[in-house]
Amino acid sequence: MKQIPENYSPANDALRDRIILVTGAGDGIGAQAARTFAGHGATVILVGRTQAKLEAVYDAITAAGDPKPAIFVMDFSKAQGDNYQNLHDAMEQEFGRLDGLLHNASILGARSPIEHHDIKIWLETIHVNLNAPFILTQALLPLLHKSKDPSIVFTSSGVGRKGRAFWGAYGVSKFGTEGLMETLADECSDIRVNCINPGATRTAMRKAAYPGEDPTTLKTPAEIMPPYLYLIGPDSRGVTGQSYDCQ
Ligand SMILES: NC(=O)c1ccc[n+]([C@@H]2O[C@H](COP(=O)([O-])OP(=O)(O)OC[C@H]3O[C@@H](n4cnc5c(N)ncnc54)[C@H](OP(=O)(O)O)[C@@H]3O)[C@@H](O)[C@H]2O)c1
Repeated sequence: MKQIPENYSPANDALRDRIILVTGAGDGIGAQAARTFAGHGATVILVGRTQAKLEAVYDAITAAGDPKPAIFVMDFSKAQGDNYQNLHDAMEQEFGRLDGLLHNASILGARSPIEHHDIKIWLETIHVNLNAPFILTQALLPLLHKSKDPSIVFTSSGVGRKGRAFWGAYGVSKFGTEGLMETLADECSDIRVNCINPGATRTAMRKAAYPGEDPTTLKTPAEIMPPYLYLIGPDSRGVTGQSYDCQ
């Protein structure tokens, strides 16, 4: 697995004039990534299922004096073709292109052995974590092709690279994510496409997976932002089809 150059620290305006969409932007790593990208000059499209959380991130970005973001409420467990098309159309009308796409939204699903895995939860987990990023990517590729320096970043996990007991549909969805990334990277010569694995990070999802763990022993989302900045921004030009670890 790859890691970014040590002590990577991009300029404060490294993402100036870039239009970057972040899914799951209302909480955890996605909320931090949205704020960090905006803090480096990007106009961020905040996509997620809980409007109030997206509005809180919007308020934090504008309060910091960073470029005004946009909000698009979308629940990937329910979204249909029309919803993806509407997002594309709204983006096309407002911006005419897309420079960065961070697929970050995911659900944990059930921690369960395959033998007893609830089928409904399996299907929903694969849908939100793998099918939705595929459909969203397909809908937005026309806008990414219009960018001068487009980058797509998928979010993976350690359990998506080496199978681990009881990680069920979540782990399998992340294996699929790695495959989707590699396939798309091989198909696209004008867009770089990579995966990022945040590693253990202090968020609600981690708490749900490891309820007994002391969260203060974990990195915060803010501490793992350099690889996100590297992969979404201009310094990763030429890097594609790769899987990166944040930690
Ligand atoms: N934290 C870790 O230790 C860790 C480790 C490895 C990989 N990851 C990966 O990193 C990414 C971010 O994880 P996190 O820890 O920040 O998780 P999190 O705190 O649970 O945040 C997940 C975000 O995804 C959104 N989301 C979930 N289901 C959605 C749906 N159906 N439609 C739209 N948005 C939806 C959530 O929205 P709401 O806030 O509205 O629920 C939330 O904003 C995920 O891809 C995860 O698999 C995390």
